[in-house]
Amino acid sequence: MSSEKEAVISLKNVDKSFGNMVVAKNISMSVKSGEIVALLGQTGAGKSTVMNMIMGTLRPTGGEVRVAGHDPYNEFDKLRGKLAVSFQTDRLLPWRTTVENTELGLLILGVPAKEARERALTWLKRVKLDGAENKYPHELSGGMRQRVSLARALCVDPELILLDESFSQLDHVTSKALREDFAKVARQYNKTCLFVTHRIEDALEMSDRVIVLRPGAGIALEQSIDDAMRADETRLRELHQTIADRMGSGPAA
Ligand SMILES: Nc1ncnc2c1ncn2[C@@H]1O[C@H](COP(=O)(O)OP(=O)(O)OP(=O)(O)O)[C@@H](O)[C@H]1O
Ligand SMILES: [Mg+2]
Repeated sequence: MSSEKEAVISLKNVDKSFGNMVVAKNISMSVKSGEIVALLGQTGAGKSTVMNMIMGTLRPTGGEVRVAGHDPYNEFDKLRGKLAVSFQTDRLLPWRTTVENTELGLLILGVPAKEARERALTWLKRVKLDGAENKYPHELSGGMRQRVSLARALCVDPELILLDESFSQLDHVTSKALREDFAKVARQYNKTCLFVTHRIEDALEMSDRVIVLRPGAGIALEQSIDDAMRADETRLRELHQTIADRMGSGPAA
C-alpha cells in the first residue's frame, strides 16, 4: 500500500510495560513524510515512552516499531543522520558558542568543517538567530537556547525530527513565536515531525494531526486538523474540549 510506503514512523500493535506497570497498550499509529503530528497526553500518559521507542532508546514489550523502514532499537546505526531530536532541556554545551553548538551534529557525522559552519549559519538565520552566532549559552535567553537546539536538529537535514516538550517551558509569547517559526520552517523544508506536548493549544496550532494518549492504555483520539478548522473558532473550541475530555478519561475499561 502506498500510504505504508510513505510512513516515516510506524507503530503496529505496540505494547510497553515496566515490570507489571502497563504504559502503552496496543498502539498503532503512523506519521507520513512531510506531516507534522502532535502527540498529546496528560503527565504520565506515556508520551516520552513512545518517543523513546521511536528513537530506539527503549525496546517495545510487544509489537513493531519502524522508522524509515528500520527497527530503531536494533538498527540504530542505519538511522544515523536521518533522525534528529530536540528536548525540553536544550542540552547545549556551555563551552561552545551558538554556531559551534549548531554545527556539532554535522561534525559528528563527518561533514567537512567549512561546510558544517556554512550550514549551521544558514539554519541560525532561518530560526532568527543571526547576530547571536558567537555568544555562549549563558549569554542567551531560554527561547534563544531553544532556537539553537532546533537549528542544531534541523541542520543535519534529517528525514524526521522528534521534539519532546521543546516549547513548553518558555513563556507564552516566546513559545508561540517559536512554534510558529518552527512550523513554518518545517513546512517550507518539508520536514516530517512528531512532537510531544501536554498543551492542547500547541497541538492545535501547529499540527496536521493530533494523537491523544491515555494513561496505561493506547490512543484515545486521533484527529486531523487543517487551516480551515484552525480558522473556525467554534470547531476549534469543540475540538479543544474533546481532546481535554479524552486526555483525562483514564485507562480504557
Ligand atoms: N524507565 C522507566 N522505568 C519505569 N517506569 C517508567 C520508566 N519510564 C517511564 N516510566 C513510567 O511510565 C509512565 C509514563 O511515563 P512517560 O515519561 O512516558 O510519560 P509522559 O507522558 O512523557 O509524561 P510527562 O508529560 O510528565 O513528560 C509513568 O508512570 C512513568 O513513571
Ligand atoms: Mg514526557
